[in-house]
Amino acid sequence: MAFPPGFIDELTARNPIEDVVGEYVRLKRSGSNLFGLCPFHGEKTASFSVSPEKGIYYCFGCHKGGSVINFQMEIEGMSYPDAVRALAKRAGMKVPEDEQYQSRYRQQERLWALHKEAARFFYDQLYAPAGKDALNYALGRGMTKGTLIRFGIGYAPDSWSDLTDTLRRKGYSDQELRDSGLVTVSRKNGNLLDRFRDRLMFPIIDVRGNVIGFGGRIMRDGDKSGAKYLNSPETLIFNKRKNLFALNLAKKSKLGYLILVEGYMDAIALHQYGFDCAVASLGTALTEDGAALLAKYTDQVVLIYDGDTAGQNATQRAIPILERAGLQVKVLQMRDAKDPDEFLKKFGADRFKLLLEESSNRVEYQLNAIARKYSLKDDDQKVKFLQESAELVSTLSSAVQREVYSGRVAEAAGISGEAMRMEVDRARKRRLAREKKQQEKIDLAPARALQPKSRSIRYDNLKSAMAEEQVLGQVLKEPALLDQIPQLQPEMFSSELLGKVFRQLSQRHRQGFEVSLGGLEDLTPEEMSHIAGIAQRQTGPVNENALRDCAETICQEHISAVAKSEDDLMAVRESLQKRKGYRQ
Ligand code: GTP
Ligand code: MN
Repeated sequence: MAFPPGFIDELTARNPIEDVVGEYVRLKRSGSNLFGLCPFHGEKTASFSVSPEKGIYYCFGCHKGGSVINFQMEIEGMSYPDAVRALAKRAGMKVPEDEQYQSRYRQQERLWALHKEAARFFYDQLYAPAGKDALNYALGRGMTKGTLIRFGIGYAPDSWSDLTDTLRRKGYSDQELRDSGLVTVSRKNGNLLDRFRDRLMFPIIDVRGNVIGFGGRIMRDGDKSGAKYLNSPETLIFNKRKNLFALNLAKKSKLGYLILVEGYMDAIALHQYGFDCAVASLGTALTEDGAALLAKYTDQVVLIYDGDTAGQNATQRAIPILERAGLQVKVLQMRDAKDPDEFLKKFGADRFKLLLEESSNRVEYQLNAIARKYSLKDDDQKVKFLQESAELVSTLSSAVQREVYSGRVAEAAGISGEAMRMEVDRARKRRLAREKKQQEKIDLAPARALQPKSRSIRYDNLKSAMAEEQVLGQVLKEPALLDQIPQLQPEMFSSELLGKVFRQLSQRHRQGFEVSLGGLEDLTPEEMSHIAGIAQRQTGPVNENALRDCAETICQEHISAVAKSEDDLMAVRESLQKRKGYRQ
């Protein structure tokens, strides 16, 4: 993925970070920085900063940061080369040939095109004579013609090779067919076989509008012909944890929230009945990635999982995942039907709207869940119910909320509001004491507060590392300073990461390229964020003397580290003095 350094510089120059970020985040100037609400975590006050001068973004809340390329990667979930390509396109630049990358991107483009062909093939089959039963099944399940078209629903015929043959005729190689996941390989003779046979087909479309996979449903429940639903396997273009069904449509909804359901059919029915903000996870439990994806498009999610135990357990698991992504969560408890699809067909959109309006916030939902576990007629169980409820209510940060919910719990259990309030207070004090203890532990170890947020880049020598951070912060601001510290060598850095960055920056400086984060290679997103944080914390004017002091600290710490291991202080000092005229 090595693009020429000069190309990356031009790319960065022609995609000003404030413009690129500005397409996603509303930014307000404050001094030399711009601030806005972080797109990577939920927040109400702007801690997301952009420095046009340094060409970086950094969030003081979630500590994500980097160059314009990193932003493109993070916000669109792209790989490094894809982000470079997207930015090049944005600036009307031609990407220099890069074999490995070109081939990977071309491979993806071929797979998207192949999937589009496949979707067209399935679609046509639904209206061909072979698709008669499937069409009747779909209509019989209440899908209108408009819905079938909107979702591009199709039919995979009862054949071993219709799709394979069609795609071959369109010029796709056997390798490409295998890579697409739409065929399987016969164990008997190695022939390619259509994976989906005699199924109603749901195309899975990503937010950019590419068909990336399919879900296929059998049409006779209890059929022996395999699982009820069959999904595309993971491929170069399909990751089921990172995509949500119908988000391509729901992201355009004007309703202002998103509904998350379990099944394809539920999402489709909701859209048909006017709730065009529904999405479904792809046959897996909700993941952090899924929640982050939702958070890009909304700050409120209504969870509507099936009414059975499995659905309720999944709801309890999904709540914290969604809240951690900064989403406000409401829960609609399915009643009188097993899922939204069935409910809508039985009772219609108006009744559903009522359910939606009375859908509770997650506290009410969780209190109800606790209540369902215990019989309030039994005193022992009633005590347990009260304790568990008090624990939950005590986690609420608003005193008004605690008051309201305490009252409700007390009423349900038939005890006085006062007793419940005391129980909640006790639970809250215990919690606060616990948290205080944890905080004290952190405060007592001040060094830890200076440590990088990510464990993988912990510093061994904090004194040296702080000086190393200073050096990087200053030279990123004023590259000419690199000429002031010729004695400082990357090997002297105690932190491997900071040394690596220093080496790359020095090298770029020597070769006349930009000394900026945009040119850094081989860093993980955590590492890049960490470096962006260092750059963004560097606010004061550059100070040559301070810089030289830092360089000296690094050299000294290096000397004693080496001396410790070699037990030969003088020899090391001599060798260092010889090199580059280092002055003691
Ligand atoms: P209908 O039964 O047609 O109403 O569909 P549904 O969406 O209500 O199905 P259900 O509630 O049983 O399942 C919810 C979701 O779980 C489905 O949409 C699928 O994504 C997934 N799922 C269900 N059954 C299977 C299966 O047998 N295999 C796989 N891989 N996924 C399944
Ligand atoms: Mn269903």
